Amino acid sequence: MAMYLPTLTRRTFLTRTAAFSAGAVLPVLGLRNAQAASIREFRLKASPGRTQLVPDTYGNTPVWAYNGTVPGPAIRVRQGDRIHVVIDNGLEEETTVHWHGVRTPNAMDGVPHLTQTPIAPGETFTYEFDAVDAGTYWYHPHLNSTVQVGRGLYGPLIIEESEPVRVDRELIWVLDDWRLTGDAAISDDFGNPHDLMHNGRIGNTVTVNGRVPESIAVRAGERIRLRLINAANARIFGLDFANLEPVVIALDGQPVTPHPPANGLVTLGPAMRVDLILDMTGRPGNRVSVVDRFYKGQEYRLVDLAYAEMAFRNTAPDWPLELQDNPLAEPDLGDAIWHEVTFNGGMMGQMIMAEMGGSMGEEGSGGMMSNMMNMMHGQGIWFINGKAATGHIMDPLLTLPHGRTCVLAMTNATAWHHPIHLHGHSFRVLSRNGLPTAHREWQDTVLMAPREKVEIAFVADNPGDWMFHCHILEHQAAGMMGVIRVSGKEEGI
Ligand code: C2O
Ligand code: CU
Repeated sequence: MAMYLPTLTRRTFLTRTAAFSAGAVLPVLGLRNAQAASIREFRLKASPGRTQLVPDTYGNTPVWAYNGTVPGPAIRVRQGDRIHVVIDNGLEEETTVHWHGVRTPNAMDGVPHLTQTPIAPGETFTYEFDAVDAGTYWYHPHLNSTVQVGRGLYGPLIIEESEPVRVDRELIWVLDDWRLTGDAAISDDFGNPHDLMHNGRIGNTVTVNGRVPESIAVRAGERIRLRLINAANARIFGLDFANLEPVVIALDGQPVTPHPPANGLVTLGPAMRVDLILDMTGRPGNRVSVVDRFYKGQEYRLVDLAYAEMAFRNTAPDWPLELQDNPLAEPDLGDAIWHEVTFNGGMMGQMIMAEMGGSMGEEGSGGMMSNMMNMMHGQGIWFINGKAATGHIMDPLLTLPHGRTCVLAMTNATAWHHPIHLHGHSFRVLSRNGLPTAHREWQDTVLMAPREKVEIAFVADNPGDWMFHCHILEHQAAGMMGVIRVSGKEEGI
């Protein structure tokens, strides 16, 4: 089955000098380019449609889609370009678009009520921001996300390096997980209490680029750059590439020291991205299965890699694997502000809090009964530092002075995994359970295992109110979300 990912036609209608973009956004990041940057213009219409997710014999699926396709069109620009996207809302409800992982100015972040008025049905909204960091990103709505993302609204956003790593071919796999009924329709039990309290809306049908894949054609000896994007509401992937030896070169868009994946599994929580270099070392005519092993006892074959009969090259190339760093400010740990962040709630949360010696914060005194009541009403199931979000407007969880390094010492006091995402910044993952990470990787979404402690650090250099939330969309909807405020320079910090 062919993997087809539509790419928007790019129209460069203006070429402006670097002087134009320099002062416009994220001034502290200082785009260093001397070359002329371009404005790239795109238009996306969100509307109901139909698409063939499953094999043809099962019929097609009503979805919500950008420009009629799932995933939506790949937006592809060069680092330093300015992205101009008109969003047309053809849905019967409000929407917004968030550019996940991209360091945009706050007003372009796509968070309803907090950074913009939601886009009403029939209305348009224009986003414009600079592509400051090269890498693999994606876009999705930030309103009624369990439903809007769950019905198919998402697409890749690729920012090309000025000097990309050398490969023979590049592939993008946008992974998704759907809960389909027998007639290939999307099950409409969004937000049911069981999903909210446990590990979110795990589905029964996994797609690559909007299609249940059979096989992907490869050639012996070729080098592929594979950009993986997890667009699922809740499913975590742990991909086993069998006898291939994938090398991770970027995480969440940001370059990392090239390394083999830990435990041989390429792990992606919801919203996370991994860029891999894959040397196709198998023999012509062979087939290799990529297997998802994340959930024990529920392993399944994601897709086969099918080698052509003719080899492309006899030995793997030895081209360099390193990507150039993006212009991220390096955290200064000697002058950092430390904050503790505790995630709690969910099924069995009380037991774990007791075991870890914590309390439910302000919610704690009410005890088990009031938490059970909250759960039955589908809200206040998950907490950050004792608070559950009920919408996007709330008092900031933390306020950080502009330009300072912030360390968040985070504790997952729940029985569940959580991919924790911060808007507007990338952070270094310093340690896990007290042990320094091997690569001090930059991420915008960090997967925390049950009971795990993770420390992250970043320079609070992007002023505004930024969402900080679990990217299991059902957890986010049931309270696991907060706001981190980075004070503006006008406040004199
Ligand atoms: Cu991918 Cu708050 O979002
Ligand atoms: Cu979560």
